[in-house]
Amino acid sequence: MLRRGGLAAFPTETVYGLGADATDADAVAAVFAAKGRPADNPLIVHVARAEDTAALADVPPLARALFEAFAPGPLTLVLPSRGVLPAAVTAGLDTVAVRVPALALARELIGAAGVPVVAPSANRSGRPSPTTWEAVRDDLGGRIDAVLVGPPTVVGIESTVVDATGSVPVVLRPGSVTLSDLRRVAPGAREAEDRLDDAARSPGTRHRHYAPRTPVNILWGPHPPPRGAAYIGLERPPGVYALVLSCRTVEEYAHGLYDFFRRADAAGVTRIDAQPVREVGLGRALMDRLRRASEG
Ligand code: TXA
Ligand code: MG
Repeated sequence: MLRRGGLAAFPTETVYGLGADATDADAVAAVFAAKGRPADNPLIVHVARAEDTAALADVPPLARALFEAFAPGPLTLVLPSRGVLPAAVTAGLDTVAVRVPALALARELIGAAGVPVVAPSANRSGRPSPTTWEAVRDDLGGRIDAVLVGPPTVVGIESTVVDATGSVPVVLRPGSVTLSDLRRVAPGAREAEDRLDDAARSPGTRHRHYAPRTPVNILWGPHPPPRGAAYIGLERPPGVYALVLSCRTVEEYAHGLYDFFRRADAAGVTRIDAQPVREVGLGRALMDRLRRASEG
């Protein structure tokens, strides 16, 4: 199906992706259309083996070291593009984002297709990323050709996106490969400094993202919940809620977040109260997603 230019969603360890042949300009255009994705937001190219990156991008020593440490895994590297893919893949940028997913089923699919596979999260643009095949069907059923049915995703939030074009890695989107993980390989690793810098390099971070239809409220202080609200957090809810997910760990919180958003939408709750967590390790990525979901 992928080789024929079709759209096939598939699981990865982070979230489900919407796959298409990265070398086929029509298939890539169909991905943007199915998601309702703005054309200025580039796609991640997925490959079965880190070695396959060299056909698509220059791989400086820093990038090689990062992939040696973290591929296959939830790390996406932004690299100087060799310009071999249709311009729509990279939204006209001179860089290309590449990732080797950890889930064996995903790598087997890409390997069998025999082509690099673009895979944005398999949600309608602006909706939370799907962590189950049912969520893909709810968002994109009737708009794509297939969903490869697999397990719920393990991590639950999207990969860490790192700019590896310079002398130190710069985190454009935090994820489960954390800053301290990166610093074990490259001590100078840092986060993108300001929003402007960040926005210029990772166009996707400009757009509102990861948002349920229900308003999301980060519980910075004690706010009594309105009637019929939902709560997600690490502790017991501080009041009476219609829907509750209390998580034991930050990993469990990140794992359950998007599915909880979708359940809250389906239940028609009035508001989602989300407890903040410490901004270290995976907590940094979780807070990034909560902030984006609560914007506006
Ligand atoms: O975990 C993931 O990364 C999932 C799974 C399916 O692999 N995919 C995913 O794709 O989250 P998407 O399209 O939802 O997010 C891709 C992010 C966007 O923020 C986009 O702007 C950024 O990667 N990106 C892609 N190409 C880029 C480039 N050349 N330079 C900077 N940022 C780029
Ligand atoms: Mg996405």
